[in-house]
Amino acid sequence: MIAPETQARTGGTADGVLVVEDLCVEFRMMNRWVPVLDNVSLTVRPGHTVGLAGESGSGKSVTASTVLGLHRSAGGRATGGHVWFDGRDLLTLDDVELRGVRGARIGLILQQPQRSLDPAFTVGDQIAETIRAHFQVSRREAWGRAVTMLDEVGIPSAARRAHEYPHTFSGGMCQRVMIAIALAADPQILVADEPTTALDVTIQAQVLGLLKEQQAERGLGILFITHDLGVIAEMCDTMAVMYAGQVVEQGPAASVLRRPRHPYTHGLLAAMPRPAIRRLTPIAGRVPAPHEMPAACRFEPRCAFSTSACKATVPDLVIGSNESGVRCLRRDELTVVAR
Ligand SMILES: Nc1ncnc2c1ncn2[C@@H]1O[C@H](COP(=O)(O)OP(=O)(O)OP(=O)(O)O)[C@@H](O)[C@H]1O
Ligand SMILES: [Mg+2]
Repeated sequence: MIAPETQARTGGTADGVLVVEDLCVEFRMMNRWVPVLDNVSLTVRPGHTVGLAGESGSGKSVTASTVLGLHRSAGGRATGGHVWFDGRDLLTLDDVELRGVRGARIGLILQQPQRSLDPAFTVGDQIAETIRAHFQVSRREAWGRAVTMLDEVGIPSAARRAHEYPHTFSGGMCQRVMIAIALAADPQILVADEPTTALDVTIQAQVLGLLKEQQAERGLGILFITHDLGVIAEMCDTMAVMYAGQVVEQGPAASVLRRPRHPYTHGLLAAMPRPAIRRLTPIAGRVPAPHEMPAACRFEPRCAFSTSACKATVPDLVIGSNESGVRCLRRDELTVVAR
């Protein structure tokens, strides 16, 4: 999904726009470097939410961690592409420079809120510490701001609860605290990797509502990762579907979900629990491991529409209007089937 901002680029992007362009990442496995992401491109604009969907192992978290420069400490390396933000390619920054971006300009929320908080410090201290890491303010002022943040993310009796430790907070409350920490430095972009997956549905709805509220107030751009297409429908303006390290379909979320064009997106939708449908249709087979990728279309071994051409030809992600794109040789025929 290459934005006009990229095409017109003169070494940078428009303010607050995150552009992931043709990103390729490898990890070392079994004594060799194995590609895990293949030419992944995404654009996150201020006030907009981009959903990243796909089965387990499709490369969603690796995309998120590479945006934040965390792939290096996980043992990965970027072998191609760019992560443009604030006129710089984040892939070229060293660890010190990246620390100035991570947290400050791009916030991160992860799936397991309890594990992300430090059990040894009060929640107020953890938010205040983040504030002091990014702003030159006194302890007292940071504490005051931390309490305001807790109040903003909907923690009742924020001034009292700021003195408490994470174990006294429920999962949903911990996730609210994580959102407060992620937003404490007033970032322009928020990367949320499965932020509500560990929560029950009512709490999930509240946390999603909170994210939307904060987005509207701050004009945040959000990269929202989830395997739950219902959550994508609720939260996202545009979406990308990943399979085996590649984006296989992208476009405005409503049209991708209403009229999917890639057989894999079809399959994900058919496997989604919905009240009116009694029998779910799982996609047969599994996502191939990075070292066993099919040479042509990566989804071909699982695809009900595969032909001999699909086994022989590498499909490109063909981009049409509205930045919609689909990586399938039979994309035009299958549009008709999907309708
Ligand atoms: N540190 C690592 N070392 C080696 N391989 C890794 C590492 N991190 C991820 N991978 C591999 O990269 C691929 C993509 O993993 P990733 O975690 O991005 O999947 P995901 O789409 O986030 O899945 P899930 O829905 O389970 O979170 C997987 O095959 C995974 O095994
Ligand atoms: Mg993941």
